[in-house]
Amino acid sequence: MASPKHFIDLSAMTSEDLTSILSDARNRKDRTKAGTADKPLAGKMLAMIFEKPSTRTRVSFDVGMRQLGGETLFLSGTEMQLGRAETIGDTAKVLSRYVDAIMIRTTDHTRLLELAEHATVPVINGLTDLTHPCQIMADIMTIEEHRGPVKGKTLAWTGDGNNVLHSLVEGAARFGYKMNMAVPMGSEPDDRILNWARNHGGEIMLCHDADRAVADADAVITDTWVSMNLEHKARGHNVFQPFQVNADLMKRAKSDALFMHCLPAHRGEEVTDDVIDGPQSVVFDEAENRLHAQKSILAWCLGAV
Ligand code: CP
Ligand code: NVA
Repeated sequence: MASPKHFIDLSAMTSEDLTSILSDARNRKDRTKAGTADKPLAGKMLAMIFEKPSTRTRVSFDVGMRQLGGETLFLSGTEMQLGRAETIGDTAKVLSRYVDAIMIRTTDHTRLLELAEHATVPVINGLTDLTHPCQIMADIMTIEEHRGPVKGKTLAWTGDGNNVLHSLVEGAARFGYKMNMAVPMGSEPDDRILNWARNHGGEIMLCHDADRAVADADAVITDTWVSMNLEHKARGHNVFQPFQVNADLMKRAKSDALFMHCLPAHRGEEVTDDVIDGPQSVVFDEAENRLHAQKSILAWCLGAV
């Protein structure tokens, strides 16, 4: 039996596959808007395991799978035996007998890897403590809709060195954009991810100065200062305040720079209301594109791209 086509991380995918998924997503989005029937996954079942809260990921995978003709099962991690009464590997083997694909949002990345290792159906990463690749697929799709090809553009991150940033860093190597990052001392992204990106041609710059990171950027991106399940690592807001995206910081970027945020946003913390509600903000386009990008991820995993 052929190995399942997992969507685990951007680093585990080829640039060609990522590009064809996004091209498929643009086509499917047009067809969806035109009301054209598009049901390549009729008869397929997606299990969605959530070990953390979610609005966008849960709803966009659920709606996306149904739009493609398939069905979904919502499974709450707290109500399952996952890694509690049985190994994650055993859960993977059992679910693989019932469903055609599994999407999981979990805590430690090793839980995702163990699930994928033992599943005989595709496994999709719906966010772990380490990465959030589906988010970055929607982000690239959004940037390209507004500003054309992302290759050669400069994206700037300011804030915490978290899961969303890790996938953006991997994306720099896969999509060919420059990734500038400013984080507080002690909140740096994982060295393994930085080294992987550098070793795979990623042009990345890490500093502790938000003004420097956003200078001449095509997009300014941020996220919460306290990620889910990492509350114990939370640092005082005074540590992050110099990394807040506000009108003054946006002025340092290109005059038409996009403002991006995966949401949920903590208004008044990592971003001010005038920026997130302002004309440069594309946060709701990003949220919408979760749906379109993930439909093509599902289709790719299940052999329909
Ligand atoms: N951006 C994102 O993944 O949002 P949810 O946590 O609401 O799924
Ligand atoms: N970094 C955030 C992303 C939420 C979508 C978190 O992990 O909580």
